[in-house]
Amino acid sequence: YYIGVDLGTSAVKLLLMEGGGAIKNIISKEYPLFFPHTGWSEQNPDDWWKAVIEGLRELTRDFDTSQIGGISFGGQMHGLVTLDSDDKVIRPAILWNDGRSQKQTDYLNQVIGKDKLSQYTANIAFAGFTAPKILWMREEEPENFRKISKIMLPKDYIAYRLSGVHCTDYSDASGMLLLDVENKCWSKEMIDICHIREEMLPKLYESYDIVGEIKPEIANELGFPKTVKIVAGAGDNAAAAVGTGTVGEGKCNISLGTSGTIFIPSKKFCVDRYNGLHSFDHADGYFHLMGCMLSAASCNKWWMEEIVKTKDYGKEQEKIKNLGENHVFFLPYLMGERSPHNNPNARGTFIGMTMDTTREDMTQAVLEGVAYAIRDSFEIAKSLGIVIGRTKICGGGAKSALWKKIIANVLGIKVDVPESEEGPGYGGAILAAVACGEYDSVSDACDQLIRVVDTIEPEEELVQKYNQRYTQFKKIYPTLKELYDEII
Ligand code: XUL
Repeated sequence: YYIGVDLGTSAVKLLLMEGGGAIKNIISKEYPLFFPHTGWSEQNPDDWWKAVIEGLRELTRDFDTSQIGGISFGGQMHGLVTLDSDDKVIRPAILWNDGRSQKQTDYLNQVIGKDKLSQYTANIAFAGFTAPKILWMREEEPENFRKISKIMLPKDYIAYRLSGVHCTDYSDASGMLLLDVENKCWSKEMIDICHIREEMLPKLYESYDIVGEIKPEIANELGFPKTVKIVAGAGDNAAAAVGTGTVGEGKCNISLGTSGTIFIPSKKFCVDRYNGLHSFDHADGYFHLMGCMLSAASCNKWWMEEIVKTKDYGKEQEKIKNLGENHVFFLPYLMGERSPHNNPNARGTFIGMTMDTTREDMTQAVLEGVAYAIRDSFEIAKSLGIVIGRTKICGGGAKSALWKKIIANVLGIKVDVPESEEGPGYGGAILAAVACGEYDSVSDACDQLIRVVDTIEPEEELVQKYNQRYTQFKKIYPTLKELYDEII
């Protein structure tokens, strides 16, 4: 068996896979997410750890644990986890959707300069990335900053506690703005700019590399063999791409999780000259471009659970009939926005309601708003000459047939639904299996394991209607941009 740990923002999902690819069990454990100030987002690494250990026990309870070969990860990206010289967590992790470091982001983009950043790392700064958070900590919490002995990403904290190895992988490291993505090494320049030392950073591995074995005391506690391999794993988007077979060339994956991402793998290193899309390493050993919106399925969750006050999303969606004709729009910027606006001050906005607007229209606007925001990144990819005719889809939002239909028609492309929507967890398990020699390579494993069970075809008339609506949607953000700065 191989275990994939998807360390997400709302929960950790653990997946048990047989060597042949069959998913034998999946369990999920939630942990709290804290918003101590508007736009801030934190979690306690110890909460992750407890959930992972309980989860591993529960996941494997009814299985022969002596058959477990390896554990790997897909982890929420960019989060800053800092440990002191006694390996104690210094402060809560500052997550990928935290917007507190705008000042430091502006410093990096404007004073160091986007060209230099791009030359050092292949990317510009976004508030969610790790480097601006390190600078924030230095300025705002100097006593904490002085204590830093190790810097790591969320999933790497779990790998560290499991194996004792301070490691990361290239795909996740790419999101720190500390990695030279093309040459796969830490950027000396960025290390200096952030006033840190290279020994604070984890050792770099390919996602399918074994970093060590499970610590004997943890193996005992869980009843696992002491030979269980800990495998580097990947950022959740790269892991999700593996879990949906989105590796190599000419493919695409959309993830509708807390964040929404569009992921375009490539065997060649490439940079988006408009800096809207991130240029990162992939878990198959190559590269990818990615657009990331900060609030996707989380917008729907917020709308359903906080405002409409229901957990029955399906029932609310059943009543939606007028696709392409909704004159209510929703801008899904509940945590500010990353791709392509790079603006932590952007805010969620409904616009266009009339006296006959219904709750369904607004629910629909939320689903459509997320699709339009994904199209913003999709359009950037098209403008770079990338041709995308179809995409895979995964994440919690991909459970909704209606949402998948909206995505297919807003983007005007085919949406292929893989057998499992558990992208990062399945991808993590596949990476563990590759590392342990079950498959020759990540792409070989994907070729053998990933099956498409359904394809949603765009409908010409609906695509036209959505093209018009998208043109309208695109005008709203620039109109409101300055106002957002005033109302924060
Ligand atoms: C990607 C990103 C998010 C998180 C979600 O750049 O920030 O997709 O990885 O967990």
